[in-house]
Amino acid sequence: SIDTQNMWSFLEAFPKQWEEARAQTEEIEFTIDADRVRTICFVGMGGSAIGADLIRAYCYDSCPYPIQMLRHYELPRWVDEHTLIIGCSYSGNTEETLTAVDRARARGAQAMAVTSGGALMLKAAKEGFDYIKIPGGLTPRAALGYNFVPLFRICQYLDIINEDEAEALEETNQLLAEQNGLLANSEDNEALSLAEKLDDTLPIVYSDSTMLEPVNLRWREQFEENAKTLAYGNTLPEMTHNEIVGWERIVHLTGRLSVIMLVDREDNERVKQRMKIVEELIKDQTASLHLFETRGKSRLARMFSLIQLADWTSFYLAILNSTDPTPVAKIDLLKRKLA
Ligand code: F6R
Repeated sequence: SIDTQNMWSFLEAFPKQWEEARAQTEEIEFTIDADRVRTICFVGMGGSAIGADLIRAYCYDSCPYPIQMLRHYELPRWVDEHTLIIGCSYSGNTEETLTAVDRARARGAQAMAVTSGGALMLKAAKEGFDYIKIPGGLTPRAALGYNFVPLFRICQYLDIINEDEAEALEETNQLLAEQNGLLANSEDNEALSLAEKLDDTLPIVYSDSTMLEPVNLRWREQFEENAKTLAYGNTLPEMTHNEIVGWERIVHLTGRLSVIMLVDREDNERVKQRMKIVEELIKDQTASLHLFETRGKSRLARMFSLIQLADWTSFYLAILNSTDPTPVAKIDLLKRKLA
């Protein structure tokens, strides 16, 4: 028997988590000097990186200065006193994140942290930089609401996200609650029927490379961590300049590859056309091809509409594979070996 209870309850409670994070961060105060910031560098790994990746993609065309996502110990040369480094680690003990924050601070960068505790929280408390303590006890990828909403607030404080966009947090909450009703219970369950079609295939996710890039990544990470199924993905337009040719020599895999195309009404018009042509060129070789369009009004709601579908689909795929979606034994083993 497999324990599906944990992941099921995390997914079911996700709208509640979002609402809690929204309410708890409404009045939050920061001490960093926003005028000194010329660039933001988020650092985090895995389930803690995805929230930062989403906010970076959300702001890609509104932030007046560069936002970098870092998943490494090492820093780019340009990190200096005008950089704001934001360490994101659910446990607070991820060594890449801790190292990068230390190195950035040694170069005079301002720092902030979003964490449930661990060494990162102690460091912030000891060294006197802003941190947001989020509730602990979840697996990091299930804490996406707690991870993401504080980053939204930080961007509001920095004036990258303006006041009226705060409504997007509420709209997203409503949409998540409505969709959850369908994805957790309904007979006509989109996530479950997708999982059935994906079973025993390698899922490949394609999307535009702007705001949907981290959504695409979330699909793959959730297949890998929840369903323990290798997944692959790429973005347009780049894949139409190379990868599309790679489909010529995979005839032996015909019927073993499923393609999931993620689209949004804001996608670049030429990218939309490219996506249609890619679909025509590869569809005969796929076990199944699925096109999902974002739902909702605000950009935020639209991004999270497809994240939620990914989360539930990977959950059902785990169940179909008789796998417990919650534990990630290989990640734990690797961390132990490195200790
Ligand atoms: C996701 C997961 C990993 C961790 C990653 C970093 O559920 O377990 O992807 O998120 O190893 O650890 P934290 O999030 O504690 O910094």
